[in-house]
Amino acid sequence: MSELNYHVLTLFPEMIEAAFLTSITGRAAARGILTLNAVNIRDYAEERRKGRVDDYSYGGGAGMIMQAEPVWRCFEAVKESILSRNKQGKIRVVYMSPAGRTFTQKMAMELAKEEDLIFLCGHYEGIDQRVLDEIVTDEISIGDYVLTGGELPALVIMDTVSRLVEGVLSNEDSAQTESFMGDGLLEYPQFSRPEIWHGRRVPPILLSGDHAAVDRWRREQSLIRTAERRPDLCGGAILDQQDLKFIAGQGLQEYQERMQSLC
Ligand SMILES: C[S@@+](CC[C@H](N)C(=O)[O-])C[C@H]1O[C@@H](n2cnc3c(N)ncnc32)[C@H](O)[C@@H]1O
Repeated sequence: MSELNYHVLTLFPEMIEAAFLTSITGRAAARGILTLNAVNIRDYAEERRKGRVDDYSYGGGAGMIMQAEPVWRCFEAVKESILSRNKQGKIRVVYMSPAGRTFTQKMAMELAKEEDLIFLCGHYEGIDQRVLDEIVTDEISIGDYVLTGGELPALVIMDTVSRLVEGVLSNEDSAQTESFMGDGLLEYPQFSRPEIWHGRRVPPILLSGDHAAVDRWRREQSLIRTAERRPDLCGGAILDQQDLKFIAGQGLQEYQERMQSLC
């Protein structure tokens, strides 16, 4: 069983704790597979500023900026505590920012290999660039929109990464067959009991007991769904001979580029 230790530098540790220590990530934390160290940057404010960590923006403009010094001090304290245990010395520091690389499942797979991850959450109009230049290794956005703070984005990434850490999900297979994993396709539709709900029947093939046929049907649904909803993913999909035959039979033009590259 592997282990991943999260350290979150934030003005709102209670927000991180409340969400992370709930449900699947909370259970994994209780079992010691994941650990959470949410640290309040305010505790590192300069004494004379009495817990204030923001100030005006040089050059003017709306909004306040989080100052470099409290963030730096907070980071140094956390880094020291990590290095006393993890001697490797290479620690990734992820700054949550709308100006970062857009988060993907592939990035989550890479982050899940780390033993320690530090997340830095901004607030107000952001953080003094000088401290970012000194400590940040990865700047990540969760999408092209602006939130009030980095806490929700950090939680989104922590949740996604946690599911990929061995032992967090009770059924390891479920992470492997999901959307964006392995073959790069979206997942097929799912159904549960009852067999008929609001007059809608579960596709009969799923009740057939023929596992090979069920697998084939699911694969075909993934191919169709990805073409319909996310044609941009079709060019990178990993396809086999049966897929190619199905795509040709259905006339799914979205895979054309991928098929040509396989010829
Ligand atoms: C109000 S935002 C600052 C936005 C900044 N002035 C800009 O225009 O890019 C405050 C903080 O929320 C976080 N944040 C907001 N939107 C985000 C997004 N899409 N992805 C990741 N973090 C985000 C960042 O940590 C940021 O420092």
